[in-house]
Amino acid sequence: NFLALTGLFAGLALTGCGGADGNTGTLGFRNALRIPPLLDPAAGADGVRRFDLRLRQGRSEFLPGKSTPTWGVNGDYLGPTLRARRGDRVAMAVTNEVGEPTTLHWHGMRLPARMDGGPHQTIQPGGTWSPEWTVDQPAATTWYHPHPHGTTSQHVYRGLAGLFLLDDDHEVALPKTYGTDDIPLVIQDKKFTEDGRLDEDFGGTYGLLGDQLLVNGTYDPHFQVTTTRVRFRVLNGSNAHVYHLGFADNRVFHVVASDAGLLARPAPVDRLRISPGERFEIVVGFAPGEQVLLKGFSGDEEIDRGDYDILRLVAAAQLAPSAELPQVLTPLAPPAVGATVRRFRLGGTNINGREMDMARIDEVIPAGAHEVWEVDNITFAHNFHIHDAVFRVLDVDGEEPPEHLRGPKDTVFSPGKTLTRLAVEFGNHVDPAMPYMYHCHILRHEDRGMMGQFVIVEPGTENSTPRELHSAG
Ligand code: C2O
Ligand code: CU
Ligand code: CU
Repeated sequence: NFLALTGLFAGLALTGCGGADGNTGTLGFRNALRIPPLLDPAAGADGVRRFDLRLRQGRSEFLPGKSTPTWGVNGDYLGPTLRARRGDRVAMAVTNEVGEPTTLHWHGMRLPARMDGGPHQTIQPGGTWSPEWTVDQPAATTWYHPHPHGTTSQHVYRGLAGLFLLDDDHEVALPKTYGTDDIPLVIQDKKFTEDGRLDEDFGGTYGLLGDQLLVNGTYDPHFQVTTTRVRFRVLNGSNAHVYHLGFADNRVFHVVASDAGLLARPAPVDRLRISPGERFEIVVGFAPGEQVLLKGFSGDEEIDRGDYDILRLVAAAQLAPSAELPQVLTPLAPPAVGATVRRFRLGGTNINGREMDMARIDEVIPAGAHEVWEVDNITFAHNFHIHDAVFRVLDVDGEEPPEHLRGPKDTVFSPGKTLTRLAVEFGNHVDPAMPYMYHCHILRHEDRGMMGQFVIVEPGTENSTPRELHSAG
């Protein structure tokens, strides 16, 4: 489609935003946004849908003319977008060819702890790990990434991550043609050395804060819009940076889903903060022939990325009409506020004064419990993620969160020196001997020990559950 691209570059040159020659120093948005391939296998005769995932080393050309050693899943960088429906039986074969022990965690998936892919499910080099489970949760944008204890930052940074889309039977008129009007946006920052390798200097309070951006592994990207509305599934797949998304013309867009599923109704915003591990689905309207920039704006935390361009959206001269945005998305019950309250004090490198210990169970939780978890951040910016649970944000320093933060979530930003109260609903997969994790999703913090372990037990056995794991290595 050379003609379309020529037209695009001519348009960019006219509006003075740099061009194909790249000699202006500004981004030219030369590269078509990469859309990760969809992996959506048919069920076998046994009704099981099998996914083969190979974690491997590769090379990517992000910066023009520079070859960067990267890691990827079934490819050179990032992995395919997996797709499954509520009720599906899925079986994964995850083969580790990266030459170091790693794991693969299903972030946002509600499943037995032995299938979770946390630090206890190590895959040795050359080994294959084969978890299997039944998808049983509402439609959502989940994702997968490694979770080896102490080296998660490196493994994610080198490129091991991908989206895992879940569908269900609830009918809602949102754009849903993958790659056309339902578009993943995996936003990650990077720092490159002179010769084009990924800088892996993870020092400092937050670890590596990159100065270049990739979207779906595309440097300097543009996307051709062909419909009047587009749904973007945004994942902050960065190690530490927090983004305040918005458009250059400050247009209003609608948040329709957060980490764990649909909001009750579309929430209009013109800025959207997203911290590492969080997902938001947004719907954006376009007029024929227009161009608009998706940008990041600066915020007040050290960890906020300053002003920068993310993606140029170029609408075709004729756009296929999309359905009207529905007024109501899903019936969402008010958060169930349980009586048990637990408090988690976020120190700089610990939670409640303790650093992660693979052999220690920090919390014992009865199956299906509703609890209030208080994230008491006494230090600088962090965030908080709970495996196998879904929560609603009750309040932040006593104030109700904005509408788009009132939906189902599994990860939440925690600004410095704030108290965030969560109404958490836990799962039913009882296993007193295999823990799930809760942690800060700023990967250097997680690696340095801002993580704890909980087990799900039969109600009534909390006090007799051992707090030590003898098998933990
Ligand atoms: Cu996205 Cu425990 O991780
Ligand atoms: Cu997770
Ligand atoms: Cu942190």
